[in-house]
Amino acid sequence: MAYEKKEQLYEGKAKKVYATDDPNVVIVSYKDDATAFNGQKKGTITGKGAINNRMTNNLMRRLEAAGIPTHYVEELSDRETAVKKVSIVPLEVIIRNISAGSFAKRYGVEEGIVFDEPTIEFSYKNDDLGDPLINDYHALALKLATQGEIDLIKKYAFAVNDHLKDYMKAIGIDLVDFKLEFGKTADGQIVLADEISPDTCRLWDEKTHEKLDKDRFRRDLGGAEEAYEEVMRRLMGDQ
Ligand code: TMP
Ligand code: ASP
Repeated sequence: MAYEKKEQLYEGKAKKVYATDDPNVVIVSYKDDATAFNGQKKGTITGKGAINNRMTNNLMRRLEAAGIPTHYVEELSDRETAVKKVSIVPLEVIIRNISAGSFAKRYGVEEGIVFDEPTIEFSYKNDDLGDPLINDYHALALKLATQGEIDLIKKYAFAVNDHLKDYMKAIGIDLVDFKLEFGKTADGQIVLADEISPDTCRLWDEKTHEKLDKDRFRRDLGGAEEAYEEVMRRLMGDQ
């Protein structure tokens, strides 16, 4: 089925969302815009939109085949994908396998400590508040999700980690940490939504420990374009 782009419903920092003729399907369009620190730092990573679109779709298709429900419907072009229309659960779900970023800073430890077991944490997805850390009880008190939804989200998030770690290991990359978002479909199903890309994951080369993700932009390391292309090349081969 060919989905046609109708009116724009929303513009976020990295994507735009458009309506289609089907009330249960929207089109996401990935931009090259990059932001960090809650939008305070702005820039462009040329080619990022197309890479994040194709990489997300590749991973979502594999996760779906592994039994994790996702919003993915159909890739329409380099930058555009049809996805199920969902209401996003306002929780950023972060899984960590190795210490880095805000974890290392918050707890005063070095980056690169490999954990025996992955950790999970939630942030309240609210730009005005700077996405504060939140626990299950707070999320329930604020009615952001039900206990059943939170339990399901945790189960899916750890399952995503198990699979994603393997996909990355197979291409010589250590999956340090990542952020997921989940959505609720019109019929109340919780599905994996948003994206899985170097914008939302920390990816380190397993041998050199070179950073192959958005930290190159966040930390002004240079070579962000090349890093995104490198991950894409390894993941997709010549596809
Ligand atoms: P953090 O260490 O800054 O908390 O980031 C953890 C992971 O979440 C990292 O892989 C980057 C990703 N992330 C996002 O996708 N969006 C965000 O707004 C932030 C702060 C982090
Ligand atoms: N979500 C952050 C921002 O708003 C980006 C990041 O650090 O990944 O700018």
